[in-house]
Amino acid sequence: MSKDVKGTYLAQSAAAKAASEGAVSDADEGRSQEASAQAAPAKSQRKGSRTKMVPVPSTSIVPERDADKDPVLECRHLGIDFGGLRAVDDFNMMIGRTEIAGLIGPNGAGKTTVFNLLTKVYQPTRGTILLDGVDTAGMDTAKVSKAGIARTFQNIRLFGSLTVEENVRIGLHNQVKCGMWSGMLRLPRHWVSEKEFHDRSLELLDVFHMANNAGDVAGSLPYGAQRRLEIVRALATNPKLLLLDEPAAGMNPSETAELMDTIVRIRDTFNIAILLIEHDMDLVMGICEGIAVLNFGKIIAKGTPDDIQNNPQVIEAYLGKQDTDQGGE
Ligand SMILES: Nc1ncnc2c1ncn2[C@@H]1O[C@H](COP(=O)(O)OP(=O)(O)OP(=O)(O)O)[C@@H](O)[C@H]1O
Ligand SMILES: [Mg+2]
Repeated sequence: MSKDVKGTYLAQSAAAKAASEGAVSDADEGRSQEASAQAAPAKSQRKGSRTKMVPVPSTSIVPERDADKDPVLECRHLGIDFGGLRAVDDFNMMIGRTEIAGLIGPNGAGKTTVFNLLTKVYQPTRGTILLDGVDTAGMDTAKVSKAGIARTFQNIRLFGSLTVEENVRIGLHNQVKCGMWSGMLRLPRHWVSEKEFHDRSLELLDVFHMANNAGDVAGSLPYGAQRRLEIVRALATNPKLLLLDEPAAGMNPSETAELMDTIVRIRDTFNIAILLIEHDMDLVMGICEGIAVLNFGKIIAKGTPDDIQNNPQVIEAYLGKQDTDQGGE
């Protein structure tokens, strides 16, 4: 199957996906249009500068630079059932400490469910999640956030009536230093924290050049800016691992290209790992170092972008058997 056909299909899939999701804010108007614009394949900017990936125990690979450090995340035989549906099964994954990893697969494959398991929105039916070597069994969403996993959502979840800065402060909340009494009594320590929160919020917003929008109402921002704000809010929790669920959904090609650069800059600035779910294959193949492909809840392939793009099982999962090179129509 030619790469062009794959690219077209995957772009169409992203457009259909964006169009099928419910409206979440005023800024969603014109989102389908933006998603259609995204169907024009953006140029992958980073081919040719591939990371050297090395094998580590348990059949995984991590970037060579992370090989001598403990992985930030390790999932072993992770799974969850919804009634009779095995939504995720035998999910094994290792992510290096500064890796940008990708989780891809057709609609309904179980990708968001993996994020819900990692962040404890759902408790796993089976398997183990080690965050920085610590078993997260028994943790709830708040504990796992404090332990170092932050996420964005497939459908934006901002506090639309609060300001941009207030949304970031919600993320900062899990690092509150001043106690309840100093806050209630407005003691000097509280004011120091207020200033610290303000400064830190602007610093984080600046990652996306959004410091000037600090006082804007979040719900009034254009769609792409709301997606970026969600990432800033997640970063405010000071994560070791940032999970991005379709960060480019609804963005136009130039916003997506900028987002690719920003994701790499975030990894380099904050020295964290990033796991992203994305249907935009230019983005995935352009910046992800290790990629896992899910289909019907199971990993069908793991490897570098080059491995994945040339894997017949992956092509078949996306295109269906009848459309592969076997000549079927
Ligand atoms: N709470 C739930 N109860 C029952 N079934 C669920 C639940 N959450 C997810 N599922 C099912 O699990 C499967 C995987 O869903 P999931 O949302 O993880 O897919 P996805 O790979 O993220 O798809 P998409 O690319 O469309 O976002 C689907 O069949 C979905 O209907
Ligand atoms: Mg999903």
